[in-house]
Amino acid sequence: MPPTLRSYEPHDFASLHKLDQSCFPPGISYSKTTLRYFLTLASADCLVAEDGGRIVGFIVSEENPPLAHIITLDVDAKHRRHAIGTALLETLEANLAARGVRSILLETATNNEPAVAFWKRHGYRIEATLKRYYLARIDAYEMRKILPATLKAQPAKKEP
Ligand SMILES: CC(C)(COP(=O)(O)OP(=O)(O)OC[C@H]1O[C@@H](n2cnc3c(N)ncnc32)[C@H](O)[C@@H]1OP(=O)(O)O)[C@@H](O)C(=O)NCCC(=O)NCCS
Repeated sequence: MPPTLRSYEPHDFASLHKLDQSCFPPGISYSKTTLRYFLTLASADCLVAEDGGRIVGFIVSEENPPLAHIITLDVDAKHRRHAIGTALLETLEANLAARGVRSILLETATNNEPAVAFWKRHGYRIEATLKRYYLARIDAYEMRKILPATLKAQPAKKEP
């Protein structure tokens, strides 16, 4: 069965934090405080991918239409290259577009080759190199995608 996607619920927190610790090196992965801060922002959205009742991936964004920012995308190492990241990203992009987002920004370490390949594959383009962005020594790419016009915001419903 393919993983199912759903919105984050507060009881997921420990699993998300554990997964983030496993996806990024110490210092780049989020502390509990920072992850909780992002997840509780009024402007945040978080989708999780669940496989057999276990969380195998998640994506967090924050938005201020027409702009949004991807905060993190994490897929469990044993479940990579099975299009879970793609499913999370495509669902998030569609949700953001429906709320009026036209452009999405993110940062990723220049030495994170799988991630750079993933983002490029999904239409994100390098806009700038942010020197010593992570841990004051690792450079990051700032990447942006202009959402295609086919992912249009839903028109507001007319009053009857
Ligand atoms: C980057 C990441 C989210 C990708 O998730 P995923 O579920 O494995 O990605 P998908 O299976 O949807 O991959 C889609 C496409 O992206 C590209 N891609 C993904 N991983 C890749 C890799 N290791 N090397 C090269 N290209 C890769 C490929 O084009 C792939 O398509 P294909 O499998 O048909 O060749 C995952 O590797 C991850 O969680 N890494 C650790 C955390 C991280 O770096 N997050 C992103 C930075 S914020």
